[in-house]
Amino acid sequence: MRYLTIALGKGRLAQRTMELFRQVGITCQEMEDPSSRKLIFTNEELGFRFFLAKGPDVPTYVEYGAADIGIVGKDTILEEGRKLYEVLDLGYGKCRMCVCGPASAAELLQHNRLIRVATKYPNIAKDYFYNKKHQTVEIIKLNGSIELAPIVGLSEVIVDIVETGTTLRENGLDVLEEVCPLSARMVVNQVSMRMENERISRLIGVLKTALTAEGEGS
Ligand code: PRP
Repeated sequence: MRYLTIALGKGRLAQRTMELFRQVGITCQEMEDPSSRKLIFTNEELGFRFFLAKGPDVPTYVEYGAADIGIVGKDTILEEGRKLYEVLDLGYGKCRMCVCGPASAAELLQHNRLIRVATKYPNIAKDYFYNKKHQTVEIIKLNGSIELAPIVGLSEVIVDIVETGTTLRENGLDVLEEVCPLSARMVVNQVSMRMENERISRLIGVLKTALTAEGEGS
């Protein structure tokens, strides 16, 4: 039996995902050691292999077939635009992609004004402003702490993830518009979906059942 390889976005999402796999009886002893720097873990008996990658790289591994399956945020799936199948909404990691800024910037979004938009997600921001709002904007790519941009005058607004809203509140910013809801998703390589259909479908089935029992997932 060949391994089914699963790529996980490093961090909170990976922890929650391993918890879910544990619940359905798929565990990796090696993964339990928090001090370990190992990146790849196997369950020989069940034929699963997990590896940890940077979130934005997960769709890349899956598109090229280096991983059969990936667990990653919807934000990353939208931003990366890779060829893969999105098969399951895991229901956790819930947050929203939003246009945010000082309350005074709200009117700049009403009348097709040329504004600057700072974001870690240039493709999502472009799609929203160009295709949905038909507003011409200048997109400025940043790599983190996006909330700084309107405060220091780099941009009028930002497109960023809002979870609890604490970062916005503590920096005097508001949600001005919602782009889309987000959560963790399971994605599958297009060839693997055909070649390993039975095992992958069975896995989707057991995960769905576990999530439904917890009141998550769809
Ligand atoms: C994310 C996001 C917001 C914050 C939202 O940042 O970019 O800054 O979390 O969460 P909240 O609504 O609960 O405050 P992250 O912690 O990933 O850091 P980064 O912006 O530096 O990438």
